[in-house]
Amino acid sequence: MDKTPQTLPRQNWTFSNEINSEIRRAAATGIYDIRGGGAKRRVPNFDDLLFLGASISRYPLEGYREKCETSVTLGTRFAKKPIELKIPITIAGMSFGALSAHAKEALGRGATAAGTSTTTGDGGMTDEERGHSEKLVYQYLPSRYGMNPDDLRRADAIEVVVGQGAKPGGGGMLLGQKITERVAKMRNLPIGIDQRSACRHPDWTGPDDLEIKILEIREITNWEKPIYIKIGGARPYYDTALAVKAGADVVVLDGMQGGTAATQDVFIEHVGQPTLACIRPAVKALQDLGMHRKVQLVVSGGIRGGADVAKALALGADAVAIGTAALIALGDNDPRWEEEYQKLGTTTGAYDDWHEGRDPAGITTQDPELMKRLDPVAAGRRLRNYLAVMTLECQTLARACGKSHVHNLEPEDLCALTIEAAAMAGVPLAGSNWIPGQSGF
Ligand SMILES: Cc1cc2nc3c(=O)[nH]c(=O)nc-3n(C[C@H](O)[C@H](O)[C@H](O)COP(=O)(O)O)c2cc1C
Repeated sequence: MDKTPQTLPRQNWTFSNEINSEIRRAAATGIYDIRGGGAKRRVPNFDDLLFLGASISRYPLEGYREKCETSVTLGTRFAKKPIELKIPITIAGMSFGALSAHAKEALGRGATAAGTSTTTGDGGMTDEERGHSEKLVYQYLPSRYGMNPDDLRRADAIEVVVGQGAKPGGGGMLLGQKITERVAKMRNLPIGIDQRSACRHPDWTGPDDLEIKILEIREITNWEKPIYIKIGGARPYYDTALAVKAGADVVVLDGMQGGTAATQDVFIEHVGQPTLACIRPAVKALQDLGMHRKVQLVVSGGIRGGADVAKALALGADAVAIGTAALIALGDNDPRWEEEYQKLGTTTGAYDDWHEGRDPAGITTQDPELMKRLDPVAAGRRLRNYLAVMTLECQTLARACGKSHVHNLEPEDLCALTIEAAAMAGVPLAGSNWIPGQSGF
């Protein structure tokens, strides 16, 4: 018998099994891969930062006796009625059409119970969501789907969407199987036909026109509502500066890990900058204009827990927004549906074919039977609990850094575990005072 040791079969890093399967899929179908969710590749992110905490040189606050405030006011620049939130975490815009009406209702219930806002999306405002959201931000989108001047007035704030982190420069998609009679009516488009949302607004070509558009929206809403401008993480310094110039009360900055309901995988994985890399340039733009904390900055894209929230705030954000994490709290990708995920050719945690409308959890679907699986009351409660935990975690970290308000967190409270994260976040590499690109050591 031959006893010669055999080497293990060597897999190719460049042509991995995963890559090869995509090549085979493309070869068999001739169409690009469409999916929901955010970037799946690892990019430098909040896990690459750590809080230093307090010891002798800094004095921590006592958890059970000393307060750490979490409230945030959005829209203090021009709006007569700024939005007061109890927590620095908001629910990002997710469209009715992509999400079921039950899911939208659950988001409203959870956000309201937690004292925060939720946001409409690329499909207009549903009565369920208006009815259950104490504070509702209404999106004004390139597609203009569901756009209605009356709804601008029914909203508590307006979010002008220029772009999304998952697809800066690209538009959205809603496939025919999700275009029910109700979705079609709200978007003023035919039932059952694939829809592509535009990638740019028809009303303006640059910041000067945008300024005029914003003025128009302010007039329509009697200068009451805060106006947000949402941008994808492309060129955060200049885009933030131009959003401020155009008259934004709030800039919403969505990094590349940001989720989407559906777009090309190549877009999600290959366009835009990581959220971590976007925050400091945006804050710098606000500081250079003397607008930091006057125009609020809301950051989104891959926020998962209280540590991410605290780190985003420490880097200079006023609040964060969550999309994917909120859906998981509602029940998305729950292991209880594993058998059904497998029937769809996927598994818990990897399910991202949200565009197909066959979501076993009843969230990214318009199928009346699947929708029934999501109880909006119970799901709203889960979201409220999750938001409460995130807030408590954020407070705990802030207290450990000696801060009586989460907004007092600052870059000085952080260090980075990698050179990349240190350079992107503009904080020192752990064990040194070296900020790559800024200071020597
Ligand atoms: C299901 C789904 C639908 C979305 N629909 C919209 C939309 O209609 N308009 C929009 O501006 N962003 C939309 N987004 C993006 C979110 O507003 C937000 O930018 C993103 O989800 C934040 O990243 P996160 O998912 O990692 O928290 C959607 C995201 C998801 C997951």
